[in-house]
Amino acid sequence: MADAEARRALKADLARFNGRVSQPDDPPLFTREPEPDVQSVHWRGRDLMPLLDRLGREVDLGAGGPRRTLRLHNPGLAFGTTHTFWGSIQVILPGEVATAHRHSANAFRFIMHGQGSWTNVDGECYPMNEGDLVLTPAGTWHDHVHKGSGPMIWLDVLDISLMRSLQATFFEPYSHPTTGNVQPVDAIPDRSLRQFGSGLMQPPRAPVKPGVNPLLAYSAAMAEAALTQAAGLTSDPLDDVVLEYRNPVDGGPAMRTMAMQLQRLRPGFQGQARRHTGSKLYYVVSGDGSTTVGDQRFDWRTGDFFTVAPWAWHAHSNGGTQEATLFQVNDTPVLKALGYYREETREETRPT
Ligand SMILES: [Fe+2]
Repeated sequence: MADAEARRALKADLARFNGRVSQPDDPPLFTREPEPDVQSVHWRGRDLMPLLDRLGREVDLGAGGPRRTLRLHNPGLAFGTTHTFWGSIQVILPGEVATAHRHSANAFRFIMHGQGSWTNVDGECYPMNEGDLVLTPAGTWHDHVHKGSGPMIWLDVLDISLMRSLQATFFEPYSHPTTGNVQPVDAIPDRSLRQFGSGLMQPPRAPVKPGVNPLLAYSAAMAEAALTQAAGLTSDPLDDVVLEYRNPVDGGPAMRTMAMQLQRLRPGFQGQARRHTGSKLYYVVSGDGSTTVGDQRFDWRTGDFFTVAPWAWHAHSNGGTQEATLFQVNDTPVLKALGYYREETREETRPT
């Protein structure tokens, strides 16, 4: 009996006992290189902002319900911005409260517009101003309170797709006997910043957990000062001036599953092309420029977002006369932890 016939004959008999044998018409199990479903996508701020404004006016933010968010959806996927994380733009209006909960997904906020909002994380309380990064690591209680006068808009990123694919979803709403569905704030509301915020010095006996970043907030002022310092270094051939938000205790990524970077492309910069496993989402903080991704070219400007799919060649450039600043989140900590990270540039190949 030919092999193909034997396989077909076995198929039905094996199925009765939850068994399978590969069939001649099965798609290949292994491909020479990644063939991702996730697509590289460009979202323009000028398209999204009017819809976000409408979302703020027409959609309620109910207590205990979902957040009011505009999700950046990847058309190659059933859900998610990439196959590992969700990026959403959250809008909260003056006087509103996004009530407390906790979940197994790691999350962070990068503030896009507005001021006067605060995020409470496990009893600590941090302001949310433009350019700030606030973390809500897996399992931490968090709520957002808007005390300012205009709409607050920020980028929310959660590793939801990864969490779901690992079937490790937990969610719990918050309840407190006196403060209800928001948390009471500790006597020292910014403890993690006071302990670890300098990045260089810290209390020698402050308790830390291996691999868990104890620092919950990175201010825009700190990031700007660091980028200005880094601008005195030799230009990075891929990213010009680039810095990663790091765990101040062990030097690792800011979150276990996601790494965040801030970079500045100066006028005339033409970056080298690279590709790597894992996915990325960029937010254009300011300026304009271009990124080629595969056979696409994204001409981006302030307020835009774009993703880079796994293993897609991509290169940044700034052909204008003003500096451009990009915020980035990627899932490389996961790939590196599992031994799946691989990166190439046009000039060299360097598995890491
Ligand atoms: Fe949440």
